[in-house]
Amino acid sequence: MRMKDQVALVTGGGSGLGKAIVERFVKEGARVAILDRSPERIEEVVSAHQGAVVGVAGDVRSMDDNKNAVAECVKAFGKLDTLIGNAGVWDYNATLASADDDRISDAINELIGINLNGYILAAKAALPELYKSKGNAIFTVSNAGLYPGGGGVIYTAAKHGVIGMIKQMAHEWAPHIRVNGVAPGGIGGSNLAGLASLSQENNSFSDLPLDDLMKQILPLEKAFYADEYAGAYVFFADRNDNGPATGAVLNFDGGIGMRGFMSPNMGAELVEKFGAI
Ligand SMILES: NC(=O)c1ccc[n+]([C@@H]2O[C@H](COP(=O)([O-])OP(=O)(O)OC[C@H]3O[C@@H](n4cnc5c(N)ncnc54)[C@H](O)[C@@H]3O)[C@@H](O)[C@H]2O)c1
Repeated sequence: MRMKDQVALVTGGGSGLGKAIVERFVKEGARVAILDRSPERIEEVVSAHQGAVVGVAGDVRSMDDNKNAVAECVKAFGKLDTLIGNAGVWDYNATLASADDDRISDAINELIGINLNGYILAAKAALPELYKSKGNAIFTVSNAGLYPGGGGVIYTAAKHGVIGMIKQMAHEWAPHIRVNGVAPGGIGGSNLAGLASLSQENNSFSDLPLDDLMKQILPLEKAFYADEYAGAYVFFADRNDNGPATGAVLNFDGGIGMRGFMSPNMGAELVEKFGAI
């Protein structure tokens, strides 16, 4: 019970990674508030964790909705220890060349609005309560915050922006509030949607053959599921373990940058030497 008596607010907590973080935090003894734009998803998570979770329907692009989520969290549980900025959408690798001239501006505004502005607004809304609790903020980045090829130009720019945001926020809020990030790779069990401005809103990440893709792409040769990523958020939120961490971003992606190009399959040597296990 590493999160006993702790209170968290998770944006995008109705699905995928956010939902898994909520489940893990509750299991660790925390009480959790969710801000998500889907009332149905909120209802499902709240009813699965009677008394431990409250939900607020709203859009992370709205300052009022973020403030409302913080207020409902404090009303229900008395405080806020950890803000987890996580709600996001994807551009489904839309290249700059493929995007229509008359849609590109809306696509940029939609994606940056949710994935970057949404984090900044949540942080602004949570700041007074995080200051009171000497709490912390954790933001979901992505492999696309560190490497190309995990999205198109717009998504990659937004996630690189999130890392800059984390560093500046950690700088501005020290020594009172710690600010860190988790950069997952492909997430099994995610429903990550595309951009309405590119007619991708009905796309779902769960339609991709993730197990096959990750087996080929990752040095660890398997896909990882949402619940396998949630422990990293416990680490950064746990007051006993996170003492020195601020401005840190955890590469948590199955080793995307570790493949190399001269010896793409180093593990074969171990099988040869020690036999298959
Ligand atoms: N799916 C992946 O492979 C992957 C990989 C790396 C990083 N990420 C990041 O993980 C985070 C969570 O994504 P996921 O894969 O769990 O997707 P998901 O769609 O399963 O969950 C995201 C949730 O955010 C909510 N949401 C979206 N836009 C919103 C808005 N404007 N206001 C309020 N709520 C909104 C959705 O309703 C949904 O419940 C995102 O930041 C995403 O960029 C995902």
